[in-house]
Amino acid sequence: MNIETLSPQDRGKQAAGVTAVDRHVQPGMKLGLGTGSTAKWAILRTAERFRAGELPGLLVVPSSFDTEILCQKEGLAVRTLQDPQIGAELDVVIDGADELTATLDCIKGGGGAHLQEKILCDAGREFILVADESKIVEHLGTRFPIPLEVHPLARVSVVKTLAKRGIQAQLRYGTGKAGPVVTDNGNFILDILFSSPIDAGQQEKDLKMITGVLEVGLFPRRARRAYIGRPDGSFSVWER
Ligand code: 5RP
Repeated sequence: MNIETLSPQDRGKQAAGVTAVDRHVQPGMKLGLGTGSTAKWAILRTAERFRAGELPGLLVVPSSFDTEILCQKEGLAVRTLQDPQIGAELDVVIDGADELTATLDCIKGGGGAHLQEKILCDAGREFILVADESKIVEHLGTRFPIPLEVHPLARVSVVKTLAKRGIQAQLRYGTGKAGPVVTDNGNFILDILFSSPIDAGQQEKDLKMITGVLEVGLFPRRARRAYIGRPDGSFSVWER
């Protein structure tokens, strides 16, 4: 796509996604690919380099149906984490974020894919975030909601447990289909927002302990590196 046709925010997303792939993806790697409008640029760049013969032996694992479909459209054959050639281990995972802090703690799941994204993340030797500047926050979860993937049978019980802790939950609805969003895994999403700063590590544990919560969209202390794109197409690298 011609860079002139991109919005300033998309230029930042493109810079982050393309740079992460150019710096970290090598031939023969087992690569996990995230979901969303920033991860898309990493997928497109990976496919471009693969088609050009720069990445022989590359094995790709997608984090959602959306990413699987884009990979296949772009000529990247996809594997599952269970494939014997993958063996539930990835060299690098590149993914976007809804919010991230200077310590690289982040929220994911704006696209409802955080369960599979966290499985890939935790299977990866290196988890690299790609984002534009608008995603940077001082505290997680007070502006962008934290998504919980919840088993449909636990929809009401989880809401009640959260309410007892003073946390309001919103069942996520989508478009193009009546009713709640159903994830790639057949579950619902509850979005929760906090009014004051949280300890992301502690909240991840506390929320995950609620029966029926299958995954929490908090990703504390996982990424060691992030590429942050700016509207002019430049980027900065954050490391911890
Ligand atoms: C999907 C995700 C995405 O990575 C996150 O929502 C960021 O998306 P985008 O790059 O489109 O802003 O976690 O579940």
